[in-house]
Amino acid sequence: MNKLKICVAGATGWAGSELSRALFATEDLELVAAISRSRSGKTVGEVIGMEGLNTPIFGTAEEALKTNPDVFVEYTKPDVAKHHVLVALKNGAHVVVGTSGLSNEDYAEIDQVAKEVNRGVLAVGNFALTVVLLQKFAEMAAKYIPQWEIIDYAHAGKKDVPSGTARELANRLSNIGEAKLEVPLDEIDGPKETRGARLQGTQVHSIRLPSYVISVDAIFGMPDQRLILRHESGSSAEPYVNGALLAIREVGKLVGLHRGLDSVMKF
Ligand SMILES: NC(=O)c1ccc[n+]([C@@H]2O[C@H](COP(=O)([O-])OP(=O)(O)OC[C@H]3O[C@@H](n4cnc5c(N)ncnc54)[C@H](OP(=O)(O)O)[C@@H]3O)[C@@H](O)[C@H]2O)c1
Repeated sequence: MNKLKICVAGATGWAGSELSRALFATEDLELVAAISRSRSGKTVGEVIGMEGLNTPIFGTAEEALKTNPDVFVEYTKPDVAKHHVLVALKNGAHVVVGTSGLSNEDYAEIDQVAKEVNRGVLAVGNFALTVVLLQKFAEMAAKYIPQWEIIDYAHAGKKDVPSGTARELANRLSNIGEAKLEVPLDEIDGPKETRGARLQGTQVHSIRLPSYVISVDAIFGMPDQRLILRHESGSSAEPYVNGALLAIREVGKLVGLHRGLDSVMKF
């Protein structure tokens, strides 16, 4: 069987190293290249403690792409993610984006380039199955309940706001409509920031405090009743592995940008 060749940008990181371990255990996927600035020149196995995983680590995407991967996985930081994705597309790879923090404008540009080069990009703010389900349930709720807000919780050191999960949720709900506001934002008394940021028609509030890992609430309110959809992640990167593997296996069937794991799942 011809294995799909995979390059993981960020293979030495918290999420990328868990994915690299899982890739090594599959029979149909081969990790041919990895990217990390501080570990370039080493092998992935040396860095993450996995004997036999001899994949070379490169310092830049341009060097890593010389291995001609079929699929490029972006799992680094938002400041470099768009550049990586565009270079990978121009080198003929399909792309899975796990990195959070890219804007809708970034995604519009990525979509355009992906269509030009006839490649697929699957951007998934959260690969966990339970988050995919939360997104689906929230979409169902928004069809019946016109008022909702999102709260995103993360550890104090998480720089990007809101989380990829919250962004993706707001993006999805915008396809259903804008959350209704009883009091328009320009009519409120007091600091407007306390009402959160309006993101694609949803008020989003980001809390960054020690002791949180990553969680999100989608709150739907109606007179005298309320639905709270809450997702909580633990501290390991394990929940993201299976979804990322699915995205890697399926992205080659897509052209242009697709957001959310459900693009390649059956419901
Ligand atoms: N979609 C999901 O389900 C999901 C799940 C978990 C995390 N995430 C997101 O994935 C991203 C990575 O998270 P993480 O916790 O794994 O981060 P992390 O532990 O800090 O790892 C970041 C990785 O990217 C590399 N990197 C950083 N900047 C780079 C650059 N300029 N060029 C090349 N490589 C670079 C790092 O290596 P060097 O520093 O050596 O370059 C490291 O290997 C974040 O945006 C996070 O929010 C998404």
